[in-house]
Amino acid sequence: MRSRLLASRRGCAIAASLMLVAGAACAQEVVVKIGVASPLTGGGAAYGKDIENGVRLAVEEANATHPAIGGKPVRFVIDSQDDQSDPRIGVQVAQQLVDDNVAVVIGHFNSGTTLPASKIYAKAGIPMITPAATNPAITQGGFPTIYRVIATDSQNAGNAGHYAATVTKAKRIAIIDDRTAFGQGEADEFEKAVKANGGAIVAREFTNDKAVDFSAQLTSIKRTNPDLVFFGGLDAQAAMLVKRMRQLGMKAQFLAGGGVMDANFIKLAGDSADGASVWEYGQPLAALPKGKDFEAKFRQKYGIDMLAYAPFAYDATWVAITAMEKAGSITPARFNAVLKATNYDGITGKIAFNAAGDLKSPSSTLYQVKNVAWVPVTTRTAD
Ligand code: ALA
Repeated sequence: MRSRLLASRRGCAIAASLMLVAGAACAQEVVVKIGVASPLTGGGAAYGKDIENGVRLAVEEANATHPAIGGKPVRFVIDSQDDQSDPRIGVQVAQQLVDDNVAVVIGHFNSGTTLPASKIYAKAGIPMITPAATNPAITQGGFPTIYRVIATDSQNAGNAGHYAATVTKAKRIAIIDDRTAFGQGEADEFEKAVKANGGAIVAREFTNDKAVDFSAQLTSIKRTNPDLVFFGGLDAQAAMLVKRMRQLGMKAQFLAGGGVMDANFIKLAGDSADGASVWEYGQPLAALPKGKDFEAKFRQKYGIDMLAYAPFAYDATWVAITAMEKAGSITPARFNAVLKATNYDGITGKIAFNAAGDLKSPSSTLYQVKNVAWVPVTTRTAD
């Protein structure tokens, strides 16, 4: 707390001298750093920027209310770090955020970076709220300061497996994943659910998250004559994969998990996108009371459409700010208890955490591409 205040006074003094304004009010202002960790370069950059944009929107809105915490005026600032989707860099930026005395971290995006980084935040006692990383293990470490505002892959890919085996009636199911903590974990959950619902897996292949050619894996999968192919990985690779499937004359249904339901997939897959299905985290935004407003606000501010994660990042930021305001403190040890008891109506729905730090009632939704657009088909919400 002491270093956070000192840092803020120094920032204030600089701001006051630069702007030649009297520093009376400013001298009292406490700067509260909100850490953001996501990929801002490399293949995941669009997702990372989406998260940063969601956080920025919340921070600017909060600052516009002239917030006060514990009777002191505060100003929230973003400390954004690029983890490049690389677990080693993820650990470095986590240490940087701890050294920077952030009050909370919104991130990371990839499960592969979140898993090791979360241990660093936990050790420092700094709450981390991931708006995107969905590997179930992230909240299974018993850390009291780790949270997630999005469904896990146990639920989401589990739904996909149940759907593949019971609704599509696929008899021969093949799986390919990107071998990241996310993609492989997702594929494992999918396989488990397929088998639990009486389905048959005829092939399991993998690639890596940088690959652009899937010919070898698909040729091998094609020989097993599947009627459905599930991909555990993200939008660009999902698009290239389904395109290659169609080029190879494979007519199998294409199904994926979270991170694929966006405009990038449709743009990159072209005609091959038609009929593709994905299970994506959360409820359809347009059907939620504040969803349409958020989409419009985002487009107006940034001039681009959001991807899947900005609303979760926006909600995560407000959840953290609300906890600090309610606790009257920016000290993690003080506001974490309030964070744990969160009961917040967000853009993405109700946010309340279970003992592990996961959502009490997470949702996930099946979407299908019809006439070059994603159409929601059904939503499942856990009790
Ligand atoms: N849900 C993806 C992951 O966990 C982004 O890596």
